[in-house]
Amino acid sequence: MAYKGLVAAAFTLATLANAKPLNRRVACADGRSASNEVCCQLFPLVDIIQEKLFDGGECGEEVHESLRLTFHDAIGFSPTAGGGGADGSIIAFADTETAFHANGGIDEIVDAQTQFIADNNVTISPGDFIQLAGAVGVANCPGAPRIPYFFGRPAPKAASPDGMIPEPFDSVDKILARFSDAGFSSAEVIALLASHSVAAADTVDPTIPGTPFDSTPGLFDSQFFVEVQLKGTAFPGTPDNEGESKSPAAGEMRIQSDEALARDSRTACEWQSFVDNHDKLMSAFSDAMVKMSVLGHDIKDLVDCSEVIPETTPLPADAGPHLLPATTMDDIEQACADTPFPTLTALPGPATSIPPVPPS
Ligand code: HEM
Repeated sequence: MAYKGLVAAAFTLATLANAKPLNRRVACADGRSASNEVCCQLFPLVDIIQEKLFDGGECGEEVHESLRLTFHDAIGFSPTAGGGGADGSIIAFADTETAFHANGGIDEIVDAQTQFIADNNVTISPGDFIQLAGAVGVANCPGAPRIPYFFGRPAPKAASPDGMIPEPFDSVDKILARFSDAGFSSAEVIALLASHSVAAADTVDPTIPGTPFDSTPGLFDSQFFVEVQLKGTAFPGTPDNEGESKSPAAGEMRIQSDEALARDSRTACEWQSFVDNHDKLMSAFSDAMVKMSVLGHDIKDLVDCSEVIPETTPLPADAGPHLLPATTMDDIEQACADTPFPTLTALPGPATSIPPVPPS
């Protein structure tokens, strides 16, 4: 027994000595290091994305639009109806895809990224570029997770079919069925909607562009999940546009699909679970985003280049889930049947109007 044990130990030591180090790093030309040499080219690209596309690293309109674009490119995928998923077809076949009704307003960021790719001699595929810009951009929003990034998507072959992107006036049944067809559970749908925490609408009501979905569109926080659960009010002068619901504050946009998903028995408890659990919000969103970013590809064919995504910053110390000024817990439209909505307090002062997200 003792002899056998010695032999086993000697074998283990010999094997470890011969094994390649598990985390072998490659030194890139600019002094940074990567896990694979193909990732090296991405460091300088990320620097210019931050400098030129995101105004030095902000979490503003261009970031919000770039995040939306990750979704509108990727969700063009169905095992039965076709589409290449996260392949950059929305850039390569922009004439076709930007004409889809669900892509209203997306042409601005498609044009901006197309111009950026041309101006800066970007050689990576449009699918890789869209997902890179999205992950880099979100990292600029305090409170956001550092979303892992996978590289190596081939060039797109064709435009995605129309009708694959959910619309704000779609029923919950239709939305969950579409996401399920693309491989997402209802819990993952709610996790992905954390993106609406750093978001605004330009085209739902074109008379008030930049109208945010929550009161903190520059922070990746849970305010979106709180504020969509508040009772909506008819504010004077707010027309009732297609897909638009009543919101809880002047200057804030609520879309019908978010309102319905927050109140549907299949999704309400998942929705509520994000209100006071920021760690869950970050990890569930990050996991679902990675899954979305590789739709249409086998992740084993891609290279993990996550180290090129900038470090993130935490939420400011005074951020935290709260009710809007002049609202109370009675304004929460409780929908989760299992557990009560977390008890929150309102910010002090009278009801205020939420300012628009300024154009970049
Ligand atoms: C049920 C599914 C969804 C529907 C119906 C929906 C609908 C919308 C609508 C109507 C807008 C406003 C567009 C405008 O008027 O400019 C919007 C904005 C946005 N959406 Fe979604 N969305 C959905 C899911 C997602 C997902 C999964 C993501 C994840 C990446 C996402 C990210 C965004 C972002 C970041 C914006 C803000 C864009 C900006 O501020 O310019 N959405 N969404």
